Amino acid sequence: MLNKAISRRAALMGVGAFTAWAASPARAMLQGVARRGSPAAALHDLLARMTVEEKAGQLTLMAAAWGPSKAAALNPPGGNTSFDAQLAEARAGRLGGVFNGAGAEMARRMQTVAVRESRLRIPLLFAADVIHGFRTIFPVPLGEAASWDPALAERTARIAAVEAAAAGIDWNFAPMVDIARDARWGRGVEGAGEDVHLGRLFAAARVRGFQGRALDSNDAMAACAKHFAAYGAAEAGLDYNTVDISERTLREIYFPPFQAAFDAGAPTVMAAFNELSGIPATGNPWLLKQVLREEWDFGGLVVSDYTGDEEMIAHGFAADAREATRIAFMAGVDMSMQSGFYIRHLPDLVAKNEVPVARLNEATLRVLALKDALGLLENPFLRIDPRRERRVVLSPAHRAVARDAARRSIVLLKNEGALLPLAKSRRIALVGPFAAGQHDLVGPWVVYGDDAQAIDLAAGMRRAGAAVTVTEGSGIEEPLAGGIAAAVAAARAADVVVLAIGEGTRMSGEAQSVTAPVIPAPQQALAEAVAAVGKPVVVVIKNGRALALAGAVADAPAILVTWFLGTETGPAIADILLGDHAPSGRLPVSFPREPGQAPYYYDHKRTGRPNPPGDALAEYKTHYRSIPNSALYPFGHGLTYGDIGYGGLSLGDARLPWNGALTVRATVTNRGRRAAEEVVQLYVHDRTASVTRPVQQLKGFQRVALRPGESKEVRFTLRREDLLFVGTENRWTVEPGAFDLWVAPSAEVEALKGSFALVAA
Ligand code: BGC
Repeated sequence: MLNKAISRRAALMGVGAFTAWAASPARAMLQGVARRGSPAAALHDLLARMTVEEKAGQLTLMAAAWGPSKAAALNPPGGNTSFDAQLAEARAGRLGGVFNGAGAEMARRMQTVAVRESRLRIPLLFAADVIHGFRTIFPVPLGEAASWDPALAERTARIAAVEAAAAGIDWNFAPMVDIARDARWGRGVEGAGEDVHLGRLFAAARVRGFQGRALDSNDAMAACAKHFAAYGAAEAGLDYNTVDISERTLREIYFPPFQAAFDAGAPTVMAAFNELSGIPATGNPWLLKQVLREEWDFGGLVVSDYTGDEEMIAHGFAADAREATRIAFMAGVDMSMQSGFYIRHLPDLVAKNEVPVARLNEATLRVLALKDALGLLENPFLRIDPRRERRVVLSPAHRAVARDAARRSIVLLKNEGALLPLAKSRRIALVGPFAAGQHDLVGPWVVYGDDAQAIDLAAGMRRAGAAVTVTEGSGIEEPLAGGIAAAVAAARAADVVVLAIGEGTRMSGEAQSVTAPVIPAPQQALAEAVAAVGKPVVVVIKNGRALALAGAVADAPAILVTWFLGTETGPAIADILLGDHAPSGRLPVSFPREPGQAPYYYDHKRTGRPNPPGDALAEYKTHYRSIPNSALYPFGHGLTYGDIGYGGLSLGDARLPWNGALTVRATVTNRGRRAAEEVVQLYVHDRTASVTRPVQQLKGFQRVALRPGESKEVRFTLRREDLLFVGTENRWTVEPGAFDLWVAPSAEVEALKGSFALVAA
């Protein structure tokens, strides 16, 4: 198999690099693997030949000097040299890999130098941020989480890997598994939202998708769970800000998606930028050693975030570069991204016995083991394939999945008077900055995809056969001269207005925190003016976060949340607007009533003075002066074109024996005239425990397809393990007692309510 792989590659790329590789010490070691049957021994042999500097080189990851300009724009500049200078580093064995490079051709040139001209000919590792697609761009992860369909996320991650791996990418800086409960934080767009259960499922699905069947196949890339840990808990939603939360909250809310990613096989993890209760995550041995290695037995690689080690100087945690290197490395960060600190300072730190050689060897072995697991030591050119890259990217099959993923990510918040779907024969005025144009389609964290290859809303509607007029009406954050007058005229001339408003690309993502997650003022003004015309208005929101909707936007009879949907934005929205596909998405984040509720999440605690149920504000109870502290549209909310009834809740004898199971049954009925997919959700509340428990927590959900008039029984099985919480000793525990339970279409609605007891053995 090895020879076959090499001869295929050799035919494709010329034999020179392969001949050199075949004669290299690294390759000889790997042949040894086969002889001795022990990969570990072969890697140790390779390690034994390495100088301290070569080891530090393996621990050094730099932004590719030859990268798309977008990559440079998405990260702060720093340390980038010329491509020739980077090749020289690879030749000298001072570089372990590069990230966000320029595809197969660049990878081929760099890898050829590494395996031909460096002393030990150890292949480079090519990493990238392939967050939601490589060239075919799927919905942003928050949007895709709105599908409540982890299998879909696995499918899109698989395609992302097929495309990216053909361009030579071995290692993906995804999934981002940070729980995000504060809509002010811009990076919630990269994750699966506010809920732990959903977060775990999507983390695992994305890892499986990226990695495929085997890590050493040419269409797989290694996943990297990030950012460890609690990056999403930044105070006040301010990116990079201090995180100071209890160990219990860490363990119960922020850790589980990482554990799910590791259980699914993620071999790497990225340390977060933030400090964690006074200790930067990048220099935090409790986090990176005690929890990760000792408790969880994680054997993979820890990489810093972009200059994360260097940033400990600004944190006031390290005096200088040398100290930052020692702290990060000794705390457990194996590989340094972008500061260049490890190659600069580790050799001297080792020489002066400030860093033990054993630690250097351990970290180096982890990098070598990752390269080996990815098949690179066997064939350094395994993934680098310009022809395959050209063939697979943006293929019609991939675009078809992108369209399906996009329409499944759309959430119908409201549909008064069954305004949607729209008949194609109606005169539709598309109004707003996102009505048309090759902009703001793929989303804020895309290195390789392009708005130019994506289809906008107007084109999607026209392709579907709808007659639309297009009026911009407003800029995204600035008014447009004459825009409102033109929009009002367009609304007057139409039967119905589709108002495409919301956030632009650069309004969410890294470093894009906001004080108020709302529709920008000029667009809100546009919405008010258009609504005043009196025509029915369908609001189509583009967003990278939960928004507090107000005024004419909140009052519109129909509202769709569409996030950033990627390459197939327009056709997907048209599918929903025109009824070719029924909406089935559900909010993975609560939409609050007002921005000042942030951080708002559905599974908050009750407090000692809960406001009575309903909207009335009782004196001296937990609410703001003007509003109840509940969501305008809660987590889990999403309508379809129809009417789904919930009934027939049955809990048997309502006893969950300690070692047994409780079956929860309910019936859902499609009372509408169209086929529908309902996401039936199960929430539980632990009434009394030795640690206070949230008002409710998602424990399971099921997607049920219902024909018009059809009823189906849905069954959930609850076990003791579903009721675990982090107890007084900061360990997972479960206590007998009484629990409330809801089978419902979202959080914060009663639907079917019951109760049961967990009975001690
Ligand atoms: C981000 C990471 C990303 C890295 C490399 C950082 O700014 O926090 O999520 O993987 O850059 O692009």
